[in-house]
Formats: sequence, structure tokens, C-alpha cells
Amino acid sequence: MALSHAHPLLLLFLVSLFVLPALSIKFFKCSTAGEDIEVKTVDISPHPVNRKGNANITVTGYTSKDIPDGASVGVTLAVLIPISEKTYSLCDVTACPVAPGPFVLTIPNIFNDKALKRRTRAYNVIVTINEEPEHARDVMCVNFVCKMRSSYMSLLSQVTE
Ligand SMILES: *[C@@H]1O[C@H](CO)[C@@H](O)[C@H](O)[C@H]1NC(C)=O
Repeated sequence: MALSHAHPLLLLFLVSLFVLPALSIKFFKCSTAGEDIEVKTVDISPHPVNRKGNANITVTGYTSKDIPDGASVGVTLAVLIPISEKTYSLCDVTACPVAPGPFVLTIPNIFNDKALKRRTRAYNVIVTINEEPEHARDVMCVNFVCKMRSSYMSLLSQVTE
């Protein structure tokens, strides 16, 4: 059967089978996070991460209260212990201040050199929003797993580029 004669819903199903798992990252809310912000989606680009590049994270969510422009966004990469910790000003990763409603964080270059070079297959990533002056409790906190491309695959992509 030619694919062009296939039922549109079947095509949609086939496309989603291949596209969706690559796009959305399964994430968990930290037990320490507040209740005002709900995270909807987390994406890592590229994923798995190429060791000779870096990666960006996109977080979409919904907030029921204002997030002030003094707030900071933290990204920690850990393998049992933190390997890389970066802090961004909220205004550098989204339009701020954030009013109640939907928001998008676009966080660039989350890896430091140490975390890129380290031979590990995956990192646990923790993304937080903390209001300033530093609150004990993060207003947002999610964690998820970020996979690293194997060195062999990186080598292959270098050869084929
Ligand atoms: C990550 O973000 C930076 C800065 O916004 C951009 O230059 C780069 O192309 C992005 N990389 C990917 C893989 O999306």
C-alpha cells in the first residue's frame, strides 16, 4: 500500500511515534518546589547532547503569580554530586517580569566544559527559579535526565560532517 493512500490518522500516528518521544523530556517536580508554578514541557536541544557542542533547555509552564525580574534561574547537572552549576538572570531567559499566565524559559548553553568532557552517559538536570533576595524555597524546581551522545557517535558525526 502506498503511503499516500494511507489513512491520515494512521499517518499522524506514525509521525507521532517517531517525533514525539524525541521532543518531550519526561520530568519530575522536586519535592521542595512551591505550588504557584506548573511546568508543562521540558525540551533539550540537541538531545542526546553532543560533547563537542553544548545544549539549550526550553521550559514551558504556567504561573498563577508574578515572578519578579530580580529572580534567578539555576541549572545544575549532577551525577550523584553536582558537576556543573549555572545561574542566569530571569530576564536573560524570558521576557520579564513574568505576569500570571503562560511563560517560556529558553536557557542557552547549560553545560560547562567539565561536564561536557566528563565520560558519563547521562546527567540528572535540575532547573530552578528562585526569587531574590534568596528565598529558602524555589518557586519552581524540576528535574529530569539528559542523555549524552556516546563518544563513538560524536566521532561518527565529526567524520560525516
Ligand atoms: C542555543 O542557544 C544559542 C543562543 O540563543 C543559539 O545560538 C544556539 O544556536 C542554540 N543551540 C541549539 C542547539 O538550539
